[in-house]
Order: sequence, then C-alpha cells, then structure tokens
Amino acid sequence: MFEDLLRRWDGEHAVIRHDSESGAWMLVCIHSTRLGPAMGGTRLKSYDGPAEALEDALRLAAGMTRKLAVLGLPCGGGKAVLAVPEVPSGEARRRLLESYGELIESLGGSYVTGPDVNTGEADMDVIGGRTAHVFCRSCAAGGSGDPSIHTALGVFHGIKATLAHLDGSDDLTGRTVLVQGTGSVGAKLARLLLDAEAVVLVSDVDEERARATGGRPVPADAALELECDVYAPCALGATLDEASIPRLRCRAVAGAANNQLAEPDDAERLRAAGILYAPDYVINGGGALHGIGLEQLGWDPEQLEREVAGIADTLTGLYQQADEERITTNEAAERLAAMRLARTDGDVPVSASER
Ligand code: PHE
Repeated sequence: MFEDLLRRWDGEHAVIRHDSESGAWMLVCIHSTRLGPAMGGTRLKSYDGPAEALEDALRLAAGMTRKLAVLGLPCGGGKAVLAVPEVPSGEARRRLLESYGELIESLGGSYVTGPDVNTGEADMDVIGGRTAHVFCRSCAAGGSGDPSIHTALGVFHGIKATLAHLDGSDDLTGRTVLVQGTGSVGAKLARLLLDAEAVVLVSDVDEERARATGGRPVPADAALELECDVYAPCALGATLDEASIPRLRCRAVAGAANNQLAEPDDAERLRAAGILYAPDYVINGGGALHGIGLEQLGWDPEQLEREVAGIADTLTGLYQQADEERITTNEAAERLAAMRLARTDGDVPVSASER
C-alpha cells in the first residue's frame, strides 16, 4: 500500500518514522519546495492504519502547495500527520510532540509546521521547544497564536463572494448557511455568520458543541440533505462524492475543510448539479496567511486582515474564469496554482497588491 501511494504521488519526499513509545506513525510529507520551504500543519488523529494516514498526509501536502501558490506566498507545501492509536494527552502527548519536534529539526528547515486538526498553540509551544521551524506558538511563547479566527474570517469573506457571484449581492441577511463541523474554525465561522444575520444551521457529531455556537442545531446524519444557500464543510475532509453530491440541496459549497472532494471528478459533478464550489484550498487560506504573514513576512494585523479579505477577490476571479472558459472552479484554481508554480523570475510576490 505505501508503495502504490508513493509511486502515484508527485511530491518531493515523505519522511516516515515510527515512534515506538506511543505507537505513532510520524509522516512528514514535503510536496514542493519550488517556491520556498514546505509549510503546512500537523494533524493528530487515529486512522484505520498507517497507509490510510499516509494517503491523507500526501493529499493534504499537495493541497498546501496549491494553497500557498494561490495565496502568492513564497512558500512550498507540506503536511504532517501523527497517526496515533489514540489521541494522547498530558505527559504522553508532550513526549510525542517533543520527539516529533526533533524530527522536524532534523529536516533543517525544509519543512515548517503549524497547527491542524487536533493540534493547537500549546502543542506548537511543545514542538517549539525542539525546533524553531514552527508557526503559531502561543503569543506568550513568541508566536502568532491560534490562527483559526483568520481561517474562519477567510471563509466568511469567501461565502460572501460566493453569494455575490450567484445573486449579485453579498448581503448575508436571511441567507441560510449550513456549517458542518463546529470545531475551532466552524464555531468561529458560525459566530461571524450569525453576527451578519444569516440563518445558521449547525451540525456536529458532538451535538452540545454545535448547540453552543448559537446556531440552529441539525442532526449530523441528515445535514447534507437540508435546503440551504451555502453548505460550509468545516469538519474532516471528503464529504463530497458520487453518493453525496446528488443529495445536496444547497446552491453553493464554501467551507473550511481541507480535501472536500473525494476525487477530482467531483468538481465536475458539482458543476453539473448547478452547485457553485469554492475550491477548498483557496477559501481556507486564512490560517496560513495568519501564521506565515505575521511570523515570517512581518505583516501587521491590518495587513493580515486585508490579505484575508483578499480571498474573496481571488474566488471572484476564479468564478468568472470558470464561467468564461466553461471549466470547473476547481480547474480554474489548479490553473492559477500551476501558473504561480511555473514562474521563473524567482521573484515571488509577498502582498496582495503585487499579486
Ligand atoms: N493547518 C492550516 C492549513 O491547512 C493552517 C496553517 C498552515 C497554519 C501553515 C500555519 C502554517 O492551512
């Protein structure tokens, strides 16, 4: 299984270590350093097996290359998965993260990590005890802190751009948005939408967590079939596939999750169903802008806000291009990423105005 996955992957390298103490597989996937050191979060999760974990990490790393290229940042793409038998806490978690921090340090800066599913600023602080190649440590430890508000804000701007493309107005008043997954990003997105007077349906495997957002909780298993303007997947990836797409009753899909499409053909399935799709790695770039912008590019909070708001303009451009060229929005995003990756002037822009 590992052999097939690596044979089919177009990335640079995958570094794999088994941590015998925790039973964790540490999978660091460096997809591309074409535009700079590979950056991307660390996902802490249990999987059916190490091959499934590797598959996730390889795909997520490729998504980071595209995400950072589309954002116009001088960074390559990578991702790490810590595939654990059970998500650890306390001392066991600290030891795992320290050992993982040493692994990152051994890569000499070719991979710089940040938070992802199940990891946060406290974890980045622990990793930061072993390597400087880490974003989003706590502010107290000298980092830029939790990026999830900026991921949520980018998705919020992206939803408005999506509605504007559909209806000519980005006003959220009375629009129905289904936020699926109310973790760190989904809950903040729900709050932003509620403040903008949208009708917010929320679903989560943890019903209490969904309720706490202030949105209208809907059962997780029926969520996909609810009528809404926008479906915002903010839980784990790949909710869009051959089976689910015909059941959707939304007009657009625009959410924070990485890897929302089970396979590339699902972009065409959405288009054929008349559903506008905001490519996941375009709309969810706000977290990366936070970590990389604040810590590496010296942005102040105002510039970060402007860059995050710029996600709306990028999406609008992709929607127009997709209409004009009769391609999927995903294809339009792939072309933009490919164009950025093909630049040969060596001069990578660092702000939206230069892009
Ligand atoms: N894990 C997040 C993402 O998928 C955010 C992130 C990336 C944070 C890189 C910092 C650095 O984009």
